[in-house]
Amino acid sequence: MSFSVTPLVSASIDTGALRHNLQVVRSRAPKSRIMAVIKANAYGHGLVAVAKALDSADAFAVARVDEGLALRAAGVSGAIVLLEGVFDKNQLDAAAAADFELVVHTPEQIELLRNASPTQRFKVWLKLDSGMNRLGFKQPEFAAAHAALKLLPALRGPANLFTHLASADVPGAATTDDQLNAFASAARGLPGECCIENSAAIFAIPQSQADWVRPGLLLYGVSPFAGSIGADYGLLPVMTLHSHVIATKALDVGERVGYGGDWIAARPTRLAIAAVGYGDGYPRSLPSGSPLHVSGERAELAGRVSMDMIGIDVTDLKVEARLGDPVVLWGAGLPVEEIAVWAQTIPYELLCGISQRVAVRLL
Ligand SMILES: Cc1ncc(COP(=O)(O)O)c(C=O)c1O
Repeated sequence: MSFSVTPLVSASIDTGALRHNLQVVRSRAPKSRIMAVIKANAYGHGLVAVAKALDSADAFAVARVDEGLALRAAGVSGAIVLLEGVFDKNQLDAAAAADFELVVHTPEQIELLRNASPTQRFKVWLKLDSGMNRLGFKQPEFAAAHAALKLLPALRGPANLFTHLASADVPGAATTDDQLNAFASAARGLPGECCIENSAAIFAIPQSQADWVRPGLLLYGVSPFAGSIGADYGLLPVMTLHSHVIATKALDVGERVGYGGDWIAARPTRLAIAAVGYGDGYPRSLPSGSPLHVSGERAELAGRVSMDMIGIDVTDLKVEARLGDPVVLWGAGLPVEEIAVWAQTIPYELLCGISQRVAVRLL
């Protein structure tokens, strides 16, 4: 037997907004090619759907081999860069077969390339650790790593050069200058294309846009800077998280709502229960008072977020809330940046945290 039911919780993905945001990035980095960062299921938006919507990007970047393989299996044929590279021969062989480009950041990865099969060829991005102390060769080892790669028959063309900024979202951070200086000095005189900038850097440090830029968050219409939203930069939100009212009730003064009963009606209250919770990726850290929309009107979270449900104070809505009314948790009209502040996190975490049971609808 098969039934088709309308999902209670869904994430609509506005593919037109994705394409618009790519154009905004192009206009802000007109001399650079764009490596669209679509790791972590395209920040929760759907890996393959996003790759297809952004097929005019110059390359895609993912973190891991399996993400790249999922793209190839779906017929994505353009350049795919593995941001963490490969970690064993098996992954190297898969990367060769799938024609992935590899970030190289450890001596072990150079050894893997040295031992590649004679017919295997790779485009490689050599990563400098310019000060973030995450991935990459430190400056003293970088030149030797570059020289070692140059000798390997497995390399296709000169190694491209790559680094990542730790604080591009903090205007005027001195460490950013240090990192840029470290990269400039390590890259001086070496052949190969350069790639430095993430979303924040593209907007905040246009002077260091290189051959390539690597935006993630901007493509999804979200601001990388605290205190602003994507619309401030002409971006359009891509994901809107929707649910529905599944119950309503009237509360007397003093009645409590949800686990722990720590929301207490201070007035006669109309309460709506919506079908969404931390099992969908709506964070439990959101406190009472956090905003959401019911039938397009702003209302407030009341009580703790449960696994599958939330309470909403709908007393002040102009039109009385009813069963089936649409609820928006974030997205169009309710910036995810604002919800992230309430949840004391960053928009990245909210977007990536959408769970598997949320139905994705492409617009
Ligand atoms: C190495 C690297 N480059 C680029 C990005 C894209 O960053 P953003 O989404 O801030 O543009 C990331 C994201 O975490 C990353 O790890």
